[in-house]
Amino acid sequence: MRRWAFVMMALGLTLGLRARADDTTAGDPLTQSIMHSLFDPMSKVLPLSLDDNAFKSAEHRGEITALLKDLQDHATVLEMHGKRKDRAFEFIAKSFKNDAKNIYRWYTHGAYDEAQFTLRNITDNCITCHSSLPEHHKFPPAQAFFKAVQVDSLSPLAKASYYVMSRQFDEALNSYEAYFKQKDVSPSTLVTQSAFIDYLKICANVKQDLARPQRLIDAITLRSDISTATKAQLKRWSATLAELDKRQSLRKTNLGDAREILTHGRDQMEYLRDRDGIIHYLVASAILNRYVHDHPDRGQDVAEAYYMLGITESLLGHSFWLSRTEFYLESAIRLAPKAPFAPKAFDLLEQSYIASFSGSSGTHVPDDVRDLLAELQQMITAPPSGKSH
Ligand code: HEC
Repeated sequence: MRRWAFVMMALGLTLGLRARADDTTAGDPLTQSIMHSLFDPMSKVLPLSLDDNAFKSAEHRGEITALLKDLQDHATVLEMHGKRKDRAFEFIAKSFKNDAKNIYRWYTHGAYDEAQFTLRNITDNCITCHSSLPEHHKFPPAQAFFKAVQVDSLSPLAKASYYVMSRQFDEALNSYEAYFKQKDVSPSTLVTQSAFIDYLKICANVKQDLARPQRLIDAITLRSDISTATKAQLKRWSATLAELDKRQSLRKTNLGDAREILTHGRDQMEYLRDRDGIIHYLVASAILNRYVHDHPDRGQDVAEAYYMLGITESLLGHSFWLSRTEFYLESAIRLAPKAPFAPKAFDLLEQSYIASFSGSSGTHVPDDVRDLLAELQQMITAPPSGKSH
């Protein structure tokens, strides 16, 4: 039997035995076992992809083809598993599978540059999933992988991403902090970098710890090379972290709390993308990520959670590879097109697409996106179906 068929059968058996793997402190064993089978080919092929010669040479072709096939097959298993999860998990699992499929196809067609480029970016999927939810337990460090990618010789930010990918969150936070404490990067550059938000997400979502980033921010505030404006910004962030920590905001689990925190954040913002709202948005999104994870049932409350996640992600998201803002907003509309927030979700979705398809030669929204927007608009404005209850 082909290995792939065997994996599907094994998955089917496990799913049959475990109607729905509930997350306990031990986590979800089925997700874990799929992760192990993904990590294995990934940790072998990624080091090869870092070496141009090795990746393109005939010498490694058989080995790389087999590893990429393995990755694609297990990504398909993850995608199927995602259908039993919340929409946010399912979305990333699907994106991962598409990337894995493209990599295999490109590599086997000799399009090595495309395969290599996508292989380096596919890790964004691992990182996005891993940075969204609390850590249940420690996963042992993947020493052979770290040795193969020569992690010790990497810059702190590159190190941090490999650590998040392999769920070494303590090491990741240490690497980020080592970077933020480097004297040759000015404090004003630090706080405008997306790496800073990535760091905050791990503190809030994974570690549920607001005291640690506050300590870092307070330490940066003491630097002598800091501008008055940056210092004032950091002090405001520090005060917000202290206040939300005191209120134990990360322990909250309901939608009303997330909404209230989001509203406070918005009240502090004078203009769109004002960074003063970041800490509130970050904490609201930590609550919302857990909310959608804990409520895969897809009712109107879940729709509102996705709407609010669309708002938080429009400020906090930055990945050029995997954008979740549009997905969250589309989910909110599809799940509850008649809800009061649906027209607003649509406005933000439309703006977001227009921004991403605008350039120096004007706005070129692709046909499929136009069709999608028309379909969603129709769902919102269509008269009630007149079904009697
Ligand atoms: C769709 C979301 C998602 C994607 C994509 C994803 N992961 Fe995971 N991964 C998870 C979740 C959730 C857990 C935690 C499972 C638990 O403990 O319940 C996890 C756990 C792990 C673990 C630890 C397993 C254990 O036994 O504790 C490893 C290793 C891992 N992932 C590696 C990877 C790598 C490498 C990638 C990318 C190639 C990746 N993951 C992509 C969601 C994802």
